[in-house]
Amino acid sequence: MALEIWNRRYTGSKYKLAGWIDELIETHCEGSSFCDIFAGTGVVAATELKRFDRVVLNDFLYSNHVIYKAFFQEGAYDPERLEARMEQWLQTPEDEMPSTFVYEQYGGRYFSARDAKIIGYLREKIEESRPELTEKEYCMLLAGLLYSADKAANTVGHYDAYIKGKPIRDTFHFEQIHPFDTSGKTIEICREDANQLARRLRCDVVYIDPPYNSRQYSRFYHVLETLTKGGTPQLFGEALKPEPENMSEYCRNAAAGAFRDLIAHLDCRYLVVSYNNTYHSKSSSSRNKIELEDIVKALESRGEVEIHAKEHPYFNAGKTEFSDHKEYIFIARVTTPAERENAGGME
Ligand SMILES: C[S@@+](CC[C@H](N)C(=O)[O-])C[C@H]1O[C@@H](n2cnc3c(N)ncnc32)[C@H](O)[C@@H]1O
Repeated sequence: MALEIWNRRYTGSKYKLAGWIDELIETHCEGSSFCDIFAGTGVVAATELKRFDRVVLNDFLYSNHVIYKAFFQEGAYDPERLEARMEQWLQTPEDEMPSTFVYEQYGGRYFSARDAKIIGYLREKIEESRPELTEKEYCMLLAGLLYSADKAANTVGHYDAYIKGKPIRDTFHFEQIHPFDTSGKTIEICREDANQLARRLRCDVVYIDPPYNSRQYSRFYHVLETLTKGGTPQLFGEALKPEPENMSEYCRNAAAGAFRDLIAHLDCRYLVVSYNNTYHSKSSSSRNKIELEDIVKALESRGEVEIHAKEHPYFNAGKTEFSDHKEYIFIARVTTPAERENAGGME
């Protein structure tokens, strides 16, 4: 069974809310182009493929970029050829697989020693065979490795730490991914700071789901980032993190300013924003950096705003308790300054 795009653990994934978001977009927005500007897993863009002719995906993580290319980008690929290659590589007995960076750094920590040996070996084989693969095939193998490795990881779902004090089971098993049929669609895949992309993007509907608390995605998913980039970076501390990269302004105190800047620069007809009410969370790392009022104010500077809310069960490690956890979608229909002035004058 091939892996689907949503077969992944990812903090803040909107997989369970994608149907609701889709209904709201269908009812309240119009147009032929859609951008998921903080795409994360890409599940919202995947849901909107059916509705829009042009779909833009953006996220500044390297691993997400490869995953989008694997699932969405047009390009030739032959799953049987990929399967045959993988089978051939996996015929090498583990004790004959050479030692790799992945094995030396992550073996017995983020993965069992056996799993790290295989993951490191496959990562190197994928790179070696890159000249014989199409770009789509290269990304498909790499995305398959990222998803399969993530499933075998000795973590609670992200890489802030690995689980200690228990034997790590050997569970790694390579699975291929199942790409979308995007023929007839225009797909654009970017790996940029969202605020920079906002300055050159032109799209009918822009979906905005930034991080809202201090947890940096590039730190949470550093093992997937390092696996994607390859090489032998220096790693630091108990959690084996590399030098910081792609640190988001949305996770800092400047978040509300970054959000206002983003909203001010987007050239679009509809702004669709996801938000949840974790602002008053007891745990400081999950407390929101942007308040609901900041969102409304920024959006009102561009047009008419509607707010939609939904109760959403919230699961976490126990520190944060929300009896009234709500998910919000704000939709702003963008108007011109003249339209806004006229609307204001009629009140
Ligand atoms: C809340 S998650 C998005 C989840 C996504 N809607 C989903 O359903 O999987 C926010 C994403 O924004 C990305 N990100 C954070 N700051 C960014 C920035 N300044 N530019 C581009 N991407 C950014 C993170 O890497 C993360 O994947």
